[in-house]
Amino acid sequence: MNVIILNGSPKPSGGNSAYLIECLKRMMELSNQDLRFTMLNIRNNMISEPDYQLFESCDAFVIASPVYFNGLPSHLLEQLVRLDDYFNGHKGIKSHARGRMNVYGLMNCGYFDGNGCALALEMIEQWAVCCGLNYSGGSGFGGGEMLGMITAVPFGKGPLKTPGKVMQKLSDAIVTKTAFENAFATPDYPRFIFMNNANMLMWEKRAKENGITKKQLYYRIP
Ligand SMILES: Cc1cc2nc3c(=O)[nH]c(=O)nc-3n(C[C@H](O)[C@H](O)[C@H](O)COP(=O)(O)O)c2cc1C
Repeated sequence: MNVIILNGSPKPSGGNSAYLIECLKRMMELSNQDLRFTMLNIRNNMISEPDYQLFESCDAFVIASPVYFNGLPSHLLEQLVRLDDYFNGHKGIKSHARGRMNVYGLMNCGYFDGNGCALALEMIEQWAVCCGLNYSGGSGFGGGEMLGMITAVPFGKGPLKTPGKVMQKLSDAIVTKTAFENAFATPDYPRFIFMNNANMLMWEKRAKENGITKKQLYYRIP
C-alpha cells in the first residue's frame, strides 16, 4: 500500500506537524507491515512536476499541516491549487488517482480545542471533492505547541490519551482504506494551566525579550 504524507508546515525541522506525522506513521506500521511511505515537505521540496507521478500509484494521501487563521496556510493552498490542475487534467490527461485515491487530513492548531481545526479540514474536503478524489476524514489536534513540547510522553498516555484515540481512528481508516467522520482531540490537561503556561512561558517571555511590557502586550486599539 502506497501512502504519501505531505507536511504543510513551513518549519524546516522539528515542528508539531512533523511530530504528529511520526506518531501516525508508527501507529500505521504497527497494524500493517506492508506500507510504503513517500514523505513530501512543503518547506524543503515544494511539490513539483516529477512528484505528480507518485500520485498515480498512491492509495492514501495524508495532508498534515498547522492551522493558520482558522484555515490552511497560503503556501499549502498554493500547492493544492497546482495539484488541482494536475488531477483535473488541465494539461490534457486526467489523473488515474481520481475516484480511487483516499485523502485524509492531519491538522493541528495552537488553540487548546481540537475543533479549531474544523474549518481547515473542511477546506481539504472541498479541495478533494473538486479534484475528484475521495475525502475520507481527518483528525484535528488542539494545543499544538504543547504537543511539540511533551514529546517524551508516550502518545496515547496521560495528557495525550484522547489525542492517541483520535490518531488511532485516522491510522485505522488509512490502513483499511476506509472513511471516518472528522475527529478532534483536545489534550487531557487542565485548560487554565495550559493558558497560564502559554501566557507566562511564551507570550510574556517573548514580549520581555523584545522590550515590551506586559501592559503593552494587552494594549487594544481604541
Ligand atoms: C501565521 C500563523 C497563524 C496561526 N493561526 C492560528 C489560528 O488561527 N488558530 C490556531 O489555533 N493556531 C494558529 N496558529 C498556531 C499554529 O497552528 C500552531 O502553532 C501549530 O502547532 C504550528 O504547527 P507546526 O509546528 O507544524 O508548524 C497560527 C500560527 C501562525 C504562525
